[in-house]
Amino acid sequence: MSMGIKNKSKAKKYVVKKGGVFWPSPEMKKIANMADPKIYEKAAKNPIKFWEDLAWNGLTWEKKWDKGYVEHFPYFEWFKGGQINFSVNCIDRHLDHGDRTALIWVPEPTNEKPIKVTYRELYDKVNKFANVLKSEGVKKGDVVSIYLPMVPEAAVAMLACARIGAIHSVVFSAFSADALRARIIGGEAKILITSDGYFRRGKPEPLLAKAKKAAKRTTVKRIIVVNRIGKRVWGRRYLDFNKALEKAEAYCEPEIMKSEDPLFILYTSGTTGKPKGVVHDTGGYAIQAYQTSKWNFNLNPGDVMWCTADVGWITGHTYAFYGPFLTGATSLIYEGGPDYPNSGRWWKIIQDHDVNVFYTAPTAVRMFMKVDPKWINQYDLSSIKILGTVGEPIDKESWMWYFRMIGGSRCPVIDTWWQTETGGTLINVLPGIGPFVPTVSGRSFPGLTHVIVDDKGKPMPTGRQGFLAQKSPFAPGMLHGVWKNPEKYVKTYWSNFKNMYDTSDGAYLVNGLIRITGRTDDVMKVAGHRLATAELENAIHDNKKVGDVAVVPMPHDVKGQVPIAFVVLKKGDGSEKLENELKKHVDKKIGPTARPGKIFFVKDLPKTRSGKIMRRILKALLVKEKPEGLMTLVNPESVEEIKTIIER
Ligand code: WTA
Repeated sequence: MSMGIKNKSKAKKYVVKKGGVFWPSPEMKKIANMADPKIYEKAAKNPIKFWEDLAWNGLTWEKKWDKGYVEHFPYFEWFKGGQINFSVNCIDRHLDHGDRTALIWVPEPTNEKPIKVTYRELYDKVNKFANVLKSEGVKKGDVVSIYLPMVPEAAVAMLACARIGAIHSVVFSAFSADALRARIIGGEAKILITSDGYFRRGKPEPLLAKAKKAAKRTTVKRIIVVNRIGKRVWGRRYLDFNKALEKAEAYCEPEIMKSEDPLFILYTSGTTGKPKGVVHDTGGYAIQAYQTSKWNFNLNPGDVMWCTADVGWITGHTYAFYGPFLTGATSLIYEGGPDYPNSGRWWKIIQDHDVNVFYTAPTAVRMFMKVDPKWINQYDLSSIKILGTVGEPIDKESWMWYFRMIGGSRCPVIDTWWQTETGGTLINVLPGIGPFVPTVSGRSFPGLTHVIVDDKGKPMPTGRQGFLAQKSPFAPGMLHGVWKNPEKYVKTYWSNFKNMYDTSDGAYLVNGLIRITGRTDDVMKVAGHRLATAELENAIHDNKKVGDVAVVPMPHDVKGQVPIAFVVLKKGDGSEKLENELKKHVDKKIGPTARPGKIFFVKDLPKTRSGKIMRRILKALLVKEKPEGLMTLVNPESVEEIKTIIER
């Protein structure tokens, strides 16, 4: 079987093998924006000055800051007194080369042509749409809800918000009406931007009905609709996105923002049942997005980056849109399913558009490992220079498959660790520096420090697993609060370790590099999507028949994890009908991404004397391990019963 790329002769080699691991080749070092291994030491000498220099050289400021970094733990400000507009940094400053492509949009239907949007065109659209928002009464500091699939209008809407200083709150289009509604209410949004639908696996998937339902009896006054699947929309409450845009004034003066002003909120799951609105500022986030795009992905004008994440997630915000735009590069986005009309679609897109940087999740890699390699081998992937992964730990086999089959054994695989809360990547190897080691994320980005500690915050010896924590000065891209919930900000992130940020991830050191082992709290990653077990438990609890419920993740060979629910009914026995009813309700409350793989009806859940459900025991039973800690249970007999039910 021929491994990797079709057109080997033309392809450059960006890695070399030395001592059993991969390093950047001379060619990679030559093209790398950062190839100096001493950068870490240099940055560590004065991290604040380091970031100040990067921010001053990398971004366009309206006014320089008075102080680079001010910290009153757990609050900190980067570039205090600095003034900036984010959309100017993403667009206006690239207008000297306005004919460069900012965005390539690949629609799912193969009979529709991809669309290229130049920086000049993006500028025109963003200015006009910013004026539309203004005429709708949106002001600096207002929250605008965006519920859009992967269409160019998503970028236009987000950048238009940034232009006028409005705060966007993007909601994943596969989330349910209930989930959207909660986020609209949280932000008190007056405007909701959505589409009539989108194409998924060959069919138009309606979206507007969900949006309408979500906006009922909320603060939303206007729903701006992108016409994608040709549904007629009428009524005084609605506005057609592109028609309104065409009629708007051509120029909108950018609102001058403080570096510390919020740019966006993005709701994410934590340990409790209610998602929290992570707040990101403007200047700090901008430099994190810019610099990581420069150094991790080596983005320069002319490079095409395809980040496959949906804009509803942080990865979509930072690397499908903002990182490529800030660096003046080209972002490719794709509307549809990865295997439509066949499993060659993604690889054909890479070939057709000469994608240079490809960034995806391990779950996608595992999915393609299962398909016939002919779907990959028939395409020329020689344009790729850098591969990236994000979202969950990647196992060695998947890493090697990705390296060989997609990268043709020529390209570094950059395993980036980060979170919604961190705004941009924080831990990974830089392509110009290396080494590239399967399953290892790497080092903290220059100018940042992470430590691996025990539960008291004491450093762990090399090789021993502990909690991953970040030390001051905190990364410029870090969250600046939890929307309308300051207590949660302090309690969730800053209370577990003294003067450190708690990532809620486990990790250990391998040869000075960080290997991430996964979440230490009740957050799951299901096909790359971040979900809390508590959210699912709340949804299942809505059903009056349910007395008690526990949800735990079970390992899955493609999705990484799937949620499994254990339900105790108030009376009577469970049935397939009830199982389906509960699953449907999860779809309604959160979205189909959260649907439990299986619901077990049990008589009792293992609990401690204080009534705490021992999810750890349920997890062990699911993977057929011997559960530990049975001594602490008030009802050890429940374990045998559950074991029998699972085995059945
Ligand atoms: C996990 C996604 C291992 C981690 C950007 C983190 C990873 C959570 C990696 C955040 C990686 C992310 N290796 N685990 N390279 N990257 N994670 O907020 O558990 O959707 O806490 O942000 O994903 O998920 P979120």
